Amino acid sequence: MSEPLDIQEIKRHLDETMTLGAQFLLFESVNSTNEYAKQNVEVNGTVVLAEKQTAGRGRLGRDWVAPAGKGILMSVVLLPEPGFSVPLLNLAAGVAVSEALQSLYSMRSVVRWPNDVFASRKKIAGVLAETQFRGSDLSKFILGIGLNVLQKPGDFPDELRKPATSVKQETSLTIDRNLLTAGILKSLDSKIHLLESGNSHLILQEWRARTDQIGRLVKYISNKEEKVGIFKDLAKHGAVILESDGHQAEITSGEIILLE
Ligand code: BTN
Repeated sequence: MSEPLDIQEIKRHLDETMTLGAQFLLFESVNSTNEYAKQNVEVNGTVVLAEKQTAGRGRLGRDWVAPAGKGILMSVVLLPEPGFSVPLLNLAAGVAVSEALQSLYSMRSVVRWPNDVFASRKKIAGVLAETQFRGSDLSKFILGIGLNVLQKPGDFPDELRKPATSVKQETSLTIDRNLLTAGILKSLDSKIHLLESGNSHLILQEWRARTDQIGRLVKYISNKEEKVGIFKDLAKHGAVILESDGHQAEITSGEIILLE
């Protein structure tokens, strides 16, 4: 294992005024940081980290697998206030990862809807956003971020449907996971404040500037339908505007695959 994750080290790189980092929890091993957060965390801004997950979850019912000590496996917990936008924060998470990789390692990556991060056309990070409701009110929002940091090609599971990469593979630099974790948290925190201050259009702007999907031919897959069309843009609330057969539709869930 590389340099272990260390809460004091992460905190050293953070600012005290941040919403994120109100509380840190670090596990050697846990089923899933998202699941732990769902069951146990009630403090706004809590960050749950693990060196290893035994039942890591991905989007659309998939697994998220990472060897111990090689990735960043993190869940951020927010207790929403009025005006909170789940889809925009979802987009913001991918942007935050991409921004941190660029500012710390000058590494180029792109975001793909809603919140995947790709480098050299391979997936490097994914985000699983989960919500909890009290009655009809959103009471907890969990953003689970999985980033491949130190994995070598042989560390990815054979059954992975698509190629994956890691920060180490892309940069060949020495990567400090504590610094990188702090970088992601700082960037994400600034997005939360953009949303809170009524500047959500800036999140959309930042996402657009970091994606390679706009204007491209994509396939949309949901459990109800499949269609091919052009990814025109993002709508105000973060939905994909998909144009197919001369009609535009707004997509809010499911999968968008780039057709090269
Ligand atoms: C995806 O691309 O499918 C999303 C992957 C999200 C993985 C992270 S790892 C930390 C957090 N805990 C989980 O169980 N999942 C998320």
